[in-house]
Amino acid sequence: MNRKPIFAANWKMNKGPSQTEDFVKSFLSKLQGQDFPCEIVIAPPFVSLAKLADLLHSATAGQNAHAIQIAAQNCSEHDSGAYTGEVSVLMLREFFTHYVILGHSERRSIYGETDAVINAKMKKALETNLKPIFCIGETLAEREGGKLESVLRTQVTEGLKDLTEKDLAETVIAYEPVWAIGTGVTATSQQAQDAHAFVRSLVAELYGADTASRIRIQYGGSVKPNNAAELMACPDIDGALIGGAALEPQSFLEIIRNGTGE
Ligand code: 13P
Repeated sequence: MNRKPIFAANWKMNKGPSQTEDFVKSFLSKLQGQDFPCEIVIAPPFVSLAKLADLLHSATAGQNAHAIQIAAQNCSEHDSGAYTGEVSVLMLREFFTHYVILGHSERRSIYGETDAVINAKMKKALETNLKPIFCIGETLAEREGGKLESVLRTQVTEGLKDLTEKDLAETVIAYEPVWAIGTGVTATSQQAQDAHAFVRSLVAELYGADTASRIRIQYGGSVKPNNAAELMACPDIDGALIGGAALEPQSFLEIIRNGTGE
């Protein structure tokens, strides 16, 4: 199965509009003339979505720049109303947002998002043609306690509950072991490959072999220019979700270059 790799920058709570502008101008100038065989996605904070959309729109209108897709880092499970501080999927669509990161471990652990809430957000996003980047992953204690597979099974089963095969065709999964996020400790390529193969087998159990062979599963957790090639060479790893190393245009670009072998 030929799955197009997807490299996504999750900026987390970094870069307001002016820093977004600096990044995008520099990144586009470095990208110029290069056409990588992958999708490139940037997920800025909500307040920078408009700036990102404007910059990318004028760039692609002016020249044949590599298309960059826009992602949000979260969305509400509700349509509108009295939810102070929340942002709806329809609002996100106004900024040409294609993807939304859901179930990130920081949303789960810091903001208490449960599998049920994440599932409701998945459904809401898919209703509006916003493609979820659905994050899962175990803590170190869970891995060391022999619970890796049961944790992933629960997250996948509950997070994807009641979704259809068609929904899964629009979904990207990101396997991000919590102990590798922002720590500089990357999963070995064998650990990552084993977890990805297991997640793919879960999708096969729930949705059949065809859906499982098509779905893209990104790896996230301390991906850097110097480990991207080895991770991306694994048969079940289809791209990366990158935090710290995607804050600099040069290192994001090097991850893409090394990860695609270009
Ligand atoms: P780091 O690349 O900084 O480890 O972050 C990974 C992550 O959480 C991406 O969503």
